[in-house]
Amino acid sequence: MPQAVSPTASEQPWWRSAVVYQIYPRSFADSNGDGIGDLPGVLAHLDHIARLGVDVVWLSPVYCSPQDDNGYDISDYQDVDPVFGTLDDLDVLIRAVHERGMRLIMDLVVNHTSDEHPWFVESRRGRDTPKADWYFWRDARPGTVPGEPGSEPNNWGAVFSGSAWRWSPERGQFYLHLFSVKQPDLNWDNPQVREAVFAMMGWWLDRGIDGFRMDVINFISKDPALPDGSMTQSGYGDGMPYFAYGPQIHAYLAEMRKRVFEPRPGSYLTVGEMPGVTPQQAREFTSSDRGQLAMVFQFEHVMLDQDGDKWTRRRVRAGDLRDTLARWQDALADDGWNSLYWNNHDQPRVVSRYGNDTTYWRESATALAAVLHLQRGTPYVYQGEELGMTNLPFDDIDNFRDVESLNHYAEMVGRRGADPDAVLQTLRHKSRDNARTPMQWSAEPGAGFTSGTPWIPVNPNHVWLNAAAEYDEPTSIYNFYRELIELRHADPVVVDGDFALLPAPDEVYAFRRTLGDRCIEVYANLTSTAAKLADDTAGPEGVILGNYPPETCQPGLLAPWEVRAYRLVSASASHSTGRPATGDGQRIRGGGGMISGPGER
Ligand code: GLC
Ligand code: CA
Repeated sequence: MPQAVSPTASEQPWWRSAVVYQIYPRSFADSNGDGIGDLPGVLAHLDHIARLGVDVVWLSPVYCSPQDDNGYDISDYQDVDPVFGTLDDLDVLIRAVHERGMRLIMDLVVNHTSDEHPWFVESRRGRDTPKADWYFWRDARPGTVPGEPGSEPNNWGAVFSGSAWRWSPERGQFYLHLFSVKQPDLNWDNPQVREAVFAMMGWWLDRGIDGFRMDVINFISKDPALPDGSMTQSGYGDGMPYFAYGPQIHAYLAEMRKRVFEPRPGSYLTVGEMPGVTPQQAREFTSSDRGQLAMVFQFEHVMLDQDGDKWTRRRVRAGDLRDTLARWQDALADDGWNSLYWNNHDQPRVVSRYGNDTTYWRESATALAAVLHLQRGTPYVYQGEELGMTNLPFDDIDNFRDVESLNHYAEMVGRRGADPDAVLQTLRHKSRDNARTPMQWSAEPGAGFTSGTPWIPVNPNHVWLNAAAEYDEPTSIYNFYRELIELRHADPVVVDGDFALLPAPDEVYAFRRTLGDRCIEVYANLTSTAAKLADDTAGPEGVILGNYPPETCQPGLLAPWEVRAYRLVSASASHSTGRPATGDGQRIRGGGGMISGPGER
């Protein structure tokens, strides 16, 4: 196990200065030619991650699963699915990660299990079994024909289309599934359920892992009345007010902390995925007093391009993106901690979504990376993001694999008679499968991901967009990510500095980070047209990181998707010279290279 190290204040938890890399094992690397990524594949490519400089690997689920939702439907929490390998393979991987000075966190998916989990199989058997109350079982609505549409206990829609209830002829009742029909929700109000989950978590920590990413953890406490929700455009009621941030959520997380984490000597990274979480709630969950979670994944910045539901698109202005990000920076400034992410296995690729994946592919991928990584919080990199991987130009419903996407298509085209091309168009932009195409290692057929037939199509752009092509290219996106991560590790201002938004035109995200007399300023043009800055002193001097050659750098003007980070000497520092910069700092000459290192220290 690596020692807990903190480059800044020794009282700070280690994860404050960490960068996390997410692996979606199914799409990362296939070692045996069956077309599906696996644990030996991860092991073989660990140096790609270590060279990037990250501190933590987050492994998406590899537990036993019928794979209805690619492993987020778990049938045995304490074993590895044969498609990914064995428990021994996982032990070897944990050791290999630790040997490289990194840590490993696993996905904790305990809002629901698979319907093939023995707990559910037993629970379904009848109202008298010991596990009868481990899930949400309810009778049909009075006055209806049980099991018929309309007899559901309430009007909630599932996240993956259709009703959130499924009739079980075996038990003669409905069960609740907020996600797919194969993902029944666990009843956390039953103390035996909590007990079983906590025991399982302890078993993994004792096996040597370093924390958990907790799947939809703000859904585990539900309003026990399960009331109808207000109607939405999907034709179902919105249950969010009743199942998200429910009455016992803080009590359950406090109990988890007491039962699982406190009795153990380690310091663990816990990050809770929380759709719909507000800044105020995020603060409550991550406040150092309560210590319930290290950080949460909020969703506001990845919902800006939607109107009402996920499938209705809305244009995003650079200013909206900036305002949202800055608001979260401010909200968690004094207490609590932010996670920082653009991508994960549920989100379309950021360079295609908020960037420009054609003319300014490299520039927009690096600008988005820089503004994310230079904020205050713990950055997450999702596999392939460090290469600038893009969405797939899906042209046929047969190329999709994701249960959410397929259900949506079936619902819209099959049941509601929507135009198939129009639905395909929305899926092309928003489907989670955009994130799940195979990792692009090389230009070979199969992208170096598999020697067999990949389970989902490889992006045709792997012939030029791949890891092998980027390693030795100094200006590559991969090497830009390395620089960013190195800068965070080298300069405490990136980790601990206060955040302040700087005045700038709407297209530009400009901010300052300050720690004592250390200061950096970041200016990023988040559009594909040049942007004029209010302050024409922002020239080539003192640039410590940028994505255009220094000789093209013009004072007061940012080229399309240009980003520049400056190091400043604060007004109080005695050796400051040169022209005054924005506000109270002065720029000093730094590395100046196109992608330069941390500069002067
Ligand atoms: C989370 C996961 C997603 C999964 C869902 C149900 O949102 O990130 O992939 O489908 O929960 O487990
Ligand atoms: Ca395989």
